[in-house]
Amino acid sequence: MNQLVINADLGHRTISRHIYGHFAEHLGRCIYDGIWVGEESPIPNTRGIRNDVVQALRAINIPNLRWPGGCYADAYHWRDGIGPKAQRPRTINFHWGNVVEDNSFGTHEFMDLCDQLGCEPYICGNVGSGSPREMAEWVEYLTFDGDSTLANLRRANGRAEPWKIRFWGIGNENWGCGGCMKPEHYADLYRQFQVYVRNYGGNKIMKIASGMGGPYIYGTEVLMRDVFKVLGPRAIDALCLHYYVFMRDTDFSATEFGEEQWFIVLQKALAIEDSLKEHIAIMDYYDPGQHVGLIVDEWGTWYSPEPGTNPAFLYQQNTLRDALVAGLTLHIFHRYCDRVRMANLAQTVNVLQAPILTQGEKIVLTPTYHVFEMFKGHQDATLLPLELKAADYTFNGQTIPAVSASASRNAAGDILLTLCNLNPTAAQTITCELRGVQAASVSGRILTAPTMTAHNTFEQPDAVRPAPFHGAQIVDGRLAIDLPARSVVALTIR
Ligand code: AHR
Repeated sequence: MNQLVINADLGHRTISRHIYGHFAEHLGRCIYDGIWVGEESPIPNTRGIRNDVVQALRAINIPNLRWPGGCYADAYHWRDGIGPKAQRPRTINFHWGNVVEDNSFGTHEFMDLCDQLGCEPYICGNVGSGSPREMAEWVEYLTFDGDSTLANLRRANGRAEPWKIRFWGIGNENWGCGGCMKPEHYADLYRQFQVYVRNYGGNKIMKIASGMGGPYIYGTEVLMRDVFKVLGPRAIDALCLHYYVFMRDTDFSATEFGEEQWFIVLQKALAIEDSLKEHIAIMDYYDPGQHVGLIVDEWGTWYSPEPGTNPAFLYQQNTLRDALVAGLTLHIFHRYCDRVRMANLAQTVNVLQAPILTQGEKIVLTPTYHVFEMFKGHQDATLLPLELKAADYTFNGQTIPAVSASASRNAAGDILLTLCNLNPTAAQTITCELRGVQAASVSGRILTAPTMTAHNTFEQPDAVRPAPFHGAQIVDGRLAIDLPARSVVALTIR
C-alpha cells in the first residue's frame, strides 16, 4: 500500500518549462537525417528541416534546444557554418566517428529550426579549441543590431534582424572532451571568456558554465568559489551537471534484458537525486540567494549501441524502461526546481535516449517521447508539495521505492498528478489525500505494455503508446488509484 498526500493549497515554486528541454548534437544521425535532410530531399521539409520531426517536437511543447554539442561544441568553429553552402568547408567530426561534416547545418539553419519549433535556442560556445574572440564574434554576429561588419555579414547571409538568444554555454565538459582541463584551469578560462559574451540591444544573455559529470563535485566547488564568489552574479548565471545512466561499459542492451537490468537502470536513474543534493549543497553554501541555476543539460540512458549500427553514432532503441527513467527523472527535477531551472534530454533524434527515431522518411515516437507528451502540463505550472510513503520494490536484496509521483497546478487551477510504478510485476494501490481542494473529477492516461522490453519499431510504431486510464476514482474526497505494474500514469484532477 502506498500513501500520498498532495498539499494543493501550499505550492509556491514554479516548474520551469525549460526542465523539458532537448539537446541536438552533430553526432551520428541526430542533425543529419534526424533533423536536417536538405531542401532537395523527397522527405517533406521546410527549408531543409524535416516537417515530421518539427511537428512531433511542437506537440510536446519543446521549450529550448541545445546545440551544437556536447563534445562537438568545443571542436566547432561557427564561421564554418555560414554563407553559401557550396563554399562551406568540409571538416572532420573527430569525436564522433571521423565522419566528414559538410557544415550544411550551421547557425542560420539552427536558428530557423528553433523558429519552426517555437523554442528558445541554447548555444554552446567553444572554449576547448576556440578563443574569446571567436566566441565574442559569434555573439555579435547573432545579436548585434547596429552597423558592424559582422552584423552586416549576417544580413548578407539572409537575416536582417538580430536574433534573441538567452542561453549561452561557455564550453562543454571541459574536464574531458572539451579540453581535459583541471577545474582551476577551466574556471580561469571561464572568467576570461565570459567577459567577451556581451549583451547587445535588448538581448540579455544568461552565462552558463560547463560543469561536472555525475558525482564529481569539485568542479562545482571551484566555479562557485573562484567565479561566483570573486566576480559576483554578473559573471555566471548557471552551471551544468551531466548525468547519464551509463551502462555501455557493462554491455547493457537497450532492448534485451531481464528484471535484474531493469532494476539496476532504475536504481541508477534514481541516484541522480544524490548528485543534485551534493551539487546544490555547495551552491547553497556560496549562493544562499540562489542566483546561480543548476542546469542538467545532458541526461538519459546510455546503453551499448544497437547491433549493426556504427558504434560512434550512439544509436539505441528505447523501451518502456526508458519511459520509467524519463518519468522518475523529471519528477526529481521538479523537486529541486528552485535550483534546477533547465535540463536537456540527450538527445533529440536517433542518439541515446531519443524521443524520436527516424529511418529514411519513417519516424517513430519512443516511449520516452510519450512521457514528455503526458507530462507537458507540468511546464511552468506550480509545484504542489506532496508527501509519499511508497511501498518497497525489492530485487536481489536491494530496495528502491516502487512509486514515484509529482503534482502541479496550472493557471486554470487544474491539478496534474503524474505517477510511475517502477515494479515490473506488481500493481500498486495508492490512497491519495487531497488537502486544500475539493476534487470533482479525475481523468487520465496510462503508458504501459505487456513486457518490460516493449518498444516501438518502424514496423510497429504504436506498440507502446498512451491509452485512457480508468484506475483512479474519487471516493469520499480522496483519490483511490490502482497503478498497473511497469506503468506511467498522468491524471488531471478538477
Ligand atoms: O551526449 C553524448 C556526449 O556525452 C556529449 O557529446 C558529451 O558532452 C557527453 O560526454
